[in-house]
Amino acid sequence: QMKIVVIGGGSSYTPELLQGIIDNYSTLPVNQLVLVDIKEGENKVKINARFLRRIIEKQGLPIEVEYTLNRREALKGADFIVTQLRVGGLAARALDEKIPLKYDVIGQETTGPGGFLKALRTIPVILDLCKDIEEVCPDAWLINFTNPAGIITEAVSNHTNVKVIGLCNVPINMKYEVAERLKVSPERINCTFVGLNHLSYINHIYLDGKDIIDEVLQVYSRTQSESVVKNISKIDDMDKFTGILGLIPSPYLQYFYFENKMLNEEKENMEKGIGTRAEQVMKVEKNLFEIYESEITEIPEELSKRGGSRYSEVAINLINSIWNNTGDLHVVNVMNKGSIVDLPYDCVIESNCIVNNQGATPISNGYLPENISGLVKQVKIYEQLTIEAAVKGDRNKALLALVNNPLVSNIDKAESILAELLEAHKKYLPRF
Ligand code: G6P
Ligand code: MN
Ligand code: MN
Repeated sequence: QMKIVVIGGGSSYTPELLQGIIDNYSTLPVNQLVLVDIKEGENKVKINARFLRRIIEKQGLPIEVEYTLNRREALKGADFIVTQLRVGGLAARALDEKIPLKYDVIGQETTGPGGFLKALRTIPVILDLCKDIEEVCPDAWLINFTNPAGIITEAVSNHTNVKVIGLCNVPINMKYEVAERLKVSPERINCTFVGLNHLSYINHIYLDGKDIIDEVLQVYSRTQSESVVKNISKIDDMDKFTGILGLIPSPYLQYFYFENKMLNEEKENMEKGIGTRAEQVMKVEKNLFEIYESEITEIPEELSKRGGSRYSEVAINLINSIWNNTGDLHVVNVMNKGSIVDLPYDCVIESNCIVNNQGATPISNGYLPENISGLVKQVKIYEQLTIEAAVKGDRNKALLALVNNPLVSNIDKAESILAELLEAHKKYLPRF
């Protein structure tokens, strides 16, 4: 019998997580699912709980769904805790996305200054949650989806005793894209990833055991495809560049490799009244909750407009491997411990890992490919400074973090953006 606790249970993604549980019920005997949220999310978490109960009833499964605002109480007896909270909600995200644009810097919720500020808001909240976990359910696994997932997972790994694994839906979607472009079934393919969260690359692709990355790169340079995630549009030249790079980059790499194009697109969206991604998502969410509130018993198509598709597949497969001690491979965010030789020992990387009931152990990655090593190392330094700034509440460290972010890099911009973002979010940043 297994108890899963979802922190940020009011998220519109939650029904997808339940779908994953249902699809894997034969190997994962979840009997208790507790959705936790805060006062501001009470209405949404209530709607989710009712919707989930209707789905379960239709399936005839003995899964009990509860919702609560009492986190500590909810954690009692937890086996797995899934974090998908968003400090400040979509309103805070909209500010993260908008403010940098004024300074001609990309406004994105995980990359650049937006992701930086999201980390400053989120790290104290997550560390506080971890204190509760340490006291109430120290043996439970924390499965973290909260962004910036790599940074948050590193903060937890280095500053708490909680067993944590960080997740993202991008790697699995990249793998499905490879399968799609090769027109083969995904089960025949194994992709290895190297890098950091939202900054990772496929460096090998095995089809029936044979490395065919070079052939795949040819395919990518000759053909075009849609973006692998809904929240990022595809730059035309990305696939051509992929062939030259010799690795398949995460769509998030477009923010670095095609910085101007991505920035212009964001600015155009503002001019055209389309708004930032947060503003678009607000509309999708409003619609989603109206649907969830109706009498439906199935997950609506509308949810596929969000960028997090297949997130439940990633989470539930991972939980399955831990629970059943399978030793399967998953692409997750964990402590490096020497896997990538030229990154710090105690930093979090996104890598293929062997997963069993001891957790996730990265396979040996060796040195970073030269083509990407400068960027990956620089972003890691930025991430480490960000964590230090958040943990200590240190404004100078925060400035240094931004100066080390490749999308900012200049002190004047860093100063102005930092000042404005800190002011805009001061409610969530009592230590700054
Ligand atoms: C991607 C990322 C997630 C992120 C999501 C945003 O899938 O991997 O980390 O949360 O997109 O999607 P949204 O619909 O909120 O813009
Ligand atoms: Mn149990
Ligand atoms: Mn992600």
